Amino acid sequence: MEQLTVRGVCKRFEIDGRSVEVLSPTDLTLKAGEFGALIGPSGCGKSTLLRMIADILPPSDGTILIGGHEPARARREHEIGFVFQDPTLLPWRSVLDNVRLPLELVGNSARLSGSTPQELIDLVGLSGFEHARPGQLSGGMQQRAAIARALILSPQLLLLDEPFGALDEITRYRMNMELLRIRAETRTTSLMVTHSIQEAVFMADRIFVLAARPGRIVDVVEVEVERPRKLSVMNSPEFAAAVDRVRTSLFGDALGMLDDA
Ligand SMILES: Nc1ncnc2c1ncn2[C@@H]1O[C@H](COP(=O)(O)OP(=O)(O)OP(=O)(O)O)[C@@H](O)[C@H]1O
Ligand SMILES: [Mg+2]
Repeated sequence: MEQLTVRGVCKRFEIDGRSVEVLSPTDLTLKAGEFGALIGPSGCGKSTLLRMIADILPPSDGTILIGGHEPARARREHEIGFVFQDPTLLPWRSVLDNVRLPLELVGNSARLSGSTPQELIDLVGLSGFEHARPGQLSGGMQQRAAIARALILSPQLLLLDEPFGALDEITRYRMNMELLRIRAETRTTSLMVTHSIQEAVFMADRIFVLAARPGRIVDVVEVEVERPRKLSVMNSPEFAAAVDRVRTSLFGDALGMLDDA
């Protein structure tokens, strides 16, 4: 079953009194449990698309369905988890209280079938740091707490907007492995924005490659690398082929010309 359906969705903004199309009509689907990646140049509309899916921003046209329902209803029913580039934790609250916050907002009786805050803290590898404040954690640890918080209401769909963009490469690989493990356990359908081709190929079942002005999907790359994925899969021919295809779709012939130079 399709967990996420985006059909003919476009976005126009009024900029300096003119209507500018920042995202052309876009189609995209993910089945339950699939991991999608969005990659493309700055300004091509990746965050805008994520915000429309999350019901933060209305589309100018088109249809979005999450588990068969419109984004407003999915959001009301807490079916969408969102992780931002900046962890956005409340600095005066402990890790445990940050992870628990959405439960408090909807009332603790809701979602009893989901994981407890402690289970999610264990899942993201923060056991022992329940009572630490965000300021006492590294960037990667803060981002793990933000992921735990996004999962606390057992959403059907997890949206991640460059969640690891601010991390160094070593921490980023570690977080990629963690997120793959978390996803394998929770089976949450996920859509992640990234600027890293390697990260997109390592994480995703399907990569949507976007171009800018106007933003649009120019290629959809199915990643045939088997799961579970360890870092060693980066040496496989399937991995190299997917990286190559994404790179060509992003840069066209430009790199070929550089090679010849
Ligand atoms: N509220 C807004 N009003 C007007 N224009 C906007 C608004 N939000 C975004 N835009 C424009 O829409 C385009 C897409 O922005 P968006 O943030 O979705 O890009 P992005 O692909 O996420 O880029 P980046 O990789 O830099 O995060 C940009 O040209 C931006 O200036
Ligand atoms: Mg963005």
